[in-house]
Amino acid sequence: MIPESFIQELLARVDIVDVVERYVQLKKAGANYQACCPFHSEKTPSFTVSPAKQFYHCFGCGAHGSAIGFVMQYAGLGFVEAVEELANHLGMPVPREVSARTQQKSQQAPLTERMARAARFYKDQLKTSPKAIDYLKGRGLTGEIAARYGLGYAPDDWQGLQRVFDDYDSQALVECGLVIVNEQGRRYDRFRDRVMFPILDQRGNVIGFGGRVLGQGEPKYLNSPETPLFEKGRELYGLPQARKEIHNQDTVIVVEGYMDVVGLAQNGVENVVATLGTAATSANMQRLVKLANRVVFCFDRDAAGDRAAWRAMENSLEHLADGKSVEILQLEGRQDPDEYVREHGKDAFLQETRNATRLSDFLVRELARRNNTSTAEGRAKFVSEAKPLLQKIAAPVLRVQIVKEIAARAQLSQAELENQCGLKPLARARYAPPNRLRPAPNALERTLLLTVLRRPERALRLPHELIDRDNAEGAALMAVAAAMEHAELPTGNLGLLLEHFRGSPHEEIVSLLVRQLEEDAGNEGEEEELFMDILERLRARALTREIDELNAKARAGTLSAEERQKLALLFARKRA
Ligand code: UTP
Ligand code: MN
Repeated sequence: MIPESFIQELLARVDIVDVVERYVQLKKAGANYQACCPFHSEKTPSFTVSPAKQFYHCFGCGAHGSAIGFVMQYAGLGFVEAVEELANHLGMPVPREVSARTQQKSQQAPLTERMARAARFYKDQLKTSPKAIDYLKGRGLTGEIAARYGLGYAPDDWQGLQRVFDDYDSQALVECGLVIVNEQGRRYDRFRDRVMFPILDQRGNVIGFGGRVLGQGEPKYLNSPETPLFEKGRELYGLPQARKEIHNQDTVIVVEGYMDVVGLAQNGVENVVATLGTAATSANMQRLVKLANRVVFCFDRDAAGDRAAWRAMENSLEHLADGKSVEILQLEGRQDPDEYVREHGKDAFLQETRNATRLSDFLVRELARRNNTSTAEGRAKFVSEAKPLLQKIAAPVLRVQIVKEIAARAQLSQAELENQCGLKPLARARYAPPNRLRPAPNALERTLLLTVLRRPERALRLPHELIDRDNAEGAALMAVAAAMEHAELPTGNLGLLLEHFRGSPHEEIVSLLVRQLEEDAGNEGEEEELFMDILERLRARALTREIDELNAKARAGTLSAEERQKLALLFARKRA
């Protein structure tokens, strides 16, 4: 847990303009800055950054948030990672309540340092190894690309790393997977006589290696084991090098192998990452759909590649959103992407990616291929295999499309199929407010919340007893009031305001309304009038409710004399 006070301090010290500018070129426009939105593709700029509000907002796609939010969204980082990233830039140490994770982190520092040193060593060794250089050249790679991916060579030596580590016997080298201890207690290098592919994390730290034999041999690739630094199912090989092009193209191409990434880059296709020998995991998918709106998987046309394509499809379903596109490219013949691009070139490869199969088509086609839909039994099995897949799809519009297609092939109506598969309606878009915002938004509280978010000090004037708290807006209003009473909320700094509510039950509604606030920038004076007007209407609403209650009693014949008097009084007040 990072204390909230630290988040506040951090946001007080970073300038969102500097942060965004690290990634996006901004142009000054009045008090704000503008650019073409990095989160959707557009030709005229609708992305604005406000230094006064410490807030960014795109009028086109609605993306918005604080400096932290920007780094999360842009770099696909988690909250803690984004905070660390910003804090590192300012040289601020991130305080943490001591947890297992913190302890683990502090132990990791020396490991990262060792991995970096090993990577440098392998890189230097490559320069002096003609056979490794020849091998890479033979695979069509230039020195430039080798340098870009930090390729190296682990010498043919049982204790090569002794040359750079005085403490070759230390446990840390074992822990980061560079050194192996055999049963006799003898230590030796894991990687020997191999071309080395360093695997980097988001920040460019070396967290693992893949090492390829030169020529034939088993295993073809030797990889770092899972270590405190390296969790295979989460990492994507080549991401730091690909990030910029992924962003420019709004497309990320996902391949199986190290050489596919490097070989494609060599031929000018740079928006490519690889899953590390496994199919794309759900964690991979979650990151991939954040990186770009289009994800194209390009796997080998062998049994393993086809299985990987199927697994990738399964793992994408829960991360899909309408407007995102996941596609699967299966190159004809037996060539992998590296071989293909070397033989046919960049343009032919890009043409192939344009003809990739959409995930929905792939899903339906594969299911149909596995089952004989010309018999009733086959159709039943077809539906039962479709069921768990359909249940995972998070994108409402896409799900309906796929349901219709499957229903047609299964000779069922759409409703029958939905029933069979227990599909509940997915009416709202993935990023729209989820169910917990029910009951239906209360118009009065919603407008009130808008005016309060604009000027949080208004929360101090709220008549608590008149506000309904069983809706998201009312609950958020009370939370703003409580925060103001503790002097926790700044005025005007929308970025800080959003971060205050991050992770709270009010996050969604606050974020939604802050966006609305930006989009229909009202007039300050009118807003104060509106605020006062709503308070008036809340009083009227309370009055009406009281009258309704007493009226109901009157109809039921349970009204006391006292209540009757009160009712008359309320009526008089209402007419006034
Ligand atoms: P491939 O066998 O398809 O190799 O493995 P490749 O990428 O075409 O490699 P080259 O072109 O022969 O050099 C694909 C990926 O599977 C993992 C690696 O991540 C590899 O890049 N793999 C494969 C291993 O981890 N170990 C192996 O022994 C083989
Ligand atoms: Mn290959």
